[in-house]
Amino acid sequence: MKALVRDIARRPFVQRPAVAVPAALLLLFGILVSGCGGNEVQSMLKTEGPAAREVAGLWWLMFALGGTVFVLVLALTVMAVFGRKSEDGPPLGPKRFVVIGGIIMPAVVLIVLLGFSLKSTFAIRLPESDLVIDVVGHQWWWEVSYPDEEIVIANEIYIPAGRPVRLRLTASDVIHSFWVPSLHGKMDMLPGKTNDFWIEADVPGLYRGQCAEFCGTQHALMAFWVHALDPDEFDRWVENRQTVSTTPETPQEARGYEVFFEAGCETCHAIDGTPAVGTAGPALTDISSRLTLGSGTIYNSRTNLANWIVNPQAVKPGNLMPNTHLSPEDLEALIDYLDRLR
Ligand code: CUA
Repeated sequence: MKALVRDIARRPFVQRPAVAVPAALLLLFGILVSGCGGNEVQSMLKTEGPAAREVAGLWWLMFALGGTVFVLVLALTVMAVFGRKSEDGPPLGPKRFVVIGGIIMPAVVLIVLLGFSLKSTFAIRLPESDLVIDVVGHQWWWEVSYPDEEIVIANEIYIPAGRPVRLRLTASDVIHSFWVPSLHGKMDMLPGKTNDFWIEADVPGLYRGQCAEFCGTQHALMAFWVHALDPDEFDRWVENRQTVSTTPETPQEARGYEVFFEAGCETCHAIDGTPAVGTAGPALTDISSRLTLGSGTIYNSRTNLANWIVNPQAVKPGNLMPNTHLSPEDLEALIDYLDRLR
C-alpha cells in the first residue's frame, strides 16, 4: 500500500486524477446506494405489489449491467495507469479495441436494456379494474375521491388488497407526482390533464407515498398513506364511510360545530352531511381517523391538531390555511367536534 501511494505521488499530476476521480466516484456511489435500502415503510426495493416488482426487477438488471460496465472501465483505467506499457498498444490492437469496446459492447448493453424496458412497460400496463379512485394533487395535499362510492377523503387512500385499483391522477395548481415506492413507479399529476395509473398491494398493510416532483416550498411535506385492507374489511370501510354521521351528539360537540362555522372553516373545508362544502382545503369528514395532519407533516393527536388549527403556518409555512384565533374553550370544543369525525 505504501509503495502504491509513493508511486502515485511520484507520477505527473495529470495521472493522479485518473485514480482519484474513479475512487471518489466509487465512494460517492456507495454512499448514494446506502440510501436505497433500510426504510421498511417507503422503499422501491421493498416491493409489495406486482407493478413494483416489475420496476424493481428492471432496476436490479440495470444496476447489475451498469455496475459491471463501471467495474470494467475502472479496471481498464487502473491497468492503463499502472500496467506495463506494451509497444503493440491495447490487447486487441488499437482499432479493434475501440470498435469492440466503444461501439459493439455499449450497443449490445443498450439493446438488452431497451428490450427489458419495453417488456416491463408492457407488463405494467393498466389492468382491468372495477374500482376507480380520483386523486388530485394540491399544494401540498392530496384530494382522494371514490366517484362510484361517493366518498371524498384526503391524504390517505384506502384500497382492497390483492386487486388492481385504477387511479385517475391530476393536479389543481402545479405539477405533482404520485409515488408509492412499494406499490408502483411514479406518475406525474398535471393540471388540466388526467393520467391513468394503477396500484395493487399483495397483502393488507400500510404503504407510504410521497410527492416526487418539486412543487413548491413544502414539496417535502407532501406525503400520504395507502391503507390496503382485506377485501371484506374494505367493503365494510366503504359502507361505514357512506353511512357515517357527522351530527354533533353532545353539547360540547354542538358548540364545536358552531365554532367551525363561526371561524369560517367551511369556506375551505367540507364535512359530509353539513352545509360545509369548501374545496380549497382537505375534506374533514374523516379527519380523526387520519394518521397524520398536514399531509404527513405531524402525527394526528389532540395537541398537534390544536397547534395546527391555531398556527398552521408555524407547522407548514406557506400552506393556504390562515392562523385561527380562538379562545381556549372554543378551541377545545372545536377539537371535540372534529374528534367525532372518523
Ligand atoms: Cu407536490 Cu411535490
